[in-house]
Amino acid sequence: MKNGLVLFFGVFAALALSWAGVLLSASQQLGRLGQFKDPTDDTIYPQPLSGLANQGRLVYQDLGCVTCHTQQVRREGFGADLARKWGQRGSYARDYIRDETVHLGSSRVGPDLRNVGNLELHPGADADYFYKLLYAPTSVAPGSLMPAHAFLFDVHPVAGRQPSASALKLPSRFAPGPGLEVVPTARAQALVAYLTSLKDTYDYPIERSRNAPAAKPKEGGH
Ligand code: HEC
Repeated sequence: MKNGLVLFFGVFAALALSWAGVLLSASQQLGRLGQFKDPTDDTIYPQPLSGLANQGRLVYQDLGCVTCHTQQVRREGFGADLARKWGQRGSYARDYIRDETVHLGSSRVGPDLRNVGNLELHPGADADYFYKLLYAPTSVAPGSLMPAHAFLFDVHPVAGRQPSASALKLPSRFAPGPGLEVVPTARAQALVAYLTSLKDTYDYPIERSRNAPAAKPKEGGH
């Protein structure tokens, strides 16, 4: 009986210690990451999302975009993400500290979206493009497997002579019909604000040196 108790507490202590170890080491490495102030221009990175983009982050979460899209760019030597123009650099843990829920994702049915708002990598991927893609994916990407999200839009008769300023300019094959217009709802506007905000363009000097391949010893003095 005495041995039984010792065994029980021994096993309990081993499990408790390893559990605490996992938590503490992760918290030590990642939990204290803060924003970084660029010494040259005093700007703080990662910059916070705008209020609308932050609402869009929740729409993204709500609609389960993460089932088909990742938001993590693997660095040089760990896959072809950079060659696919999914980013200008690999993602750092620090990129995600502003997000309450991180949408890393694990399945890549569609492309990685971590930098989808970076017009240098995706020329033409502006708000208009995202609206059309969400309403009718094949209107911008023929043969696309991306599901349509038409429920994020209102289709209604044009009031007056001119269509609304926010009405989508769709190719006639995708337009709803004469006298009708497609207008994004507030959820679509927030989601598109989020998509256009997705770009990790700042390269943190501290992260860059940490992730760089081991420096070759210098020849000679300084
Ligand atoms: C069933 C899987 C699936 C789901 C769910 C999905 N997508 Fe996609 N998405 C795709 C595929 C596949 C593509 C590639 C389209 C193509 O064939 O060019 C794509 C393309 C995109 C692109 C264009 C990327 C580029 O590089 O041009 C964006 C932006 C996008 N999706 C956003 C979203 C958002 C936002 C959601 C959630 C509302 C979402 N997707 C949900 C599969 C999906």
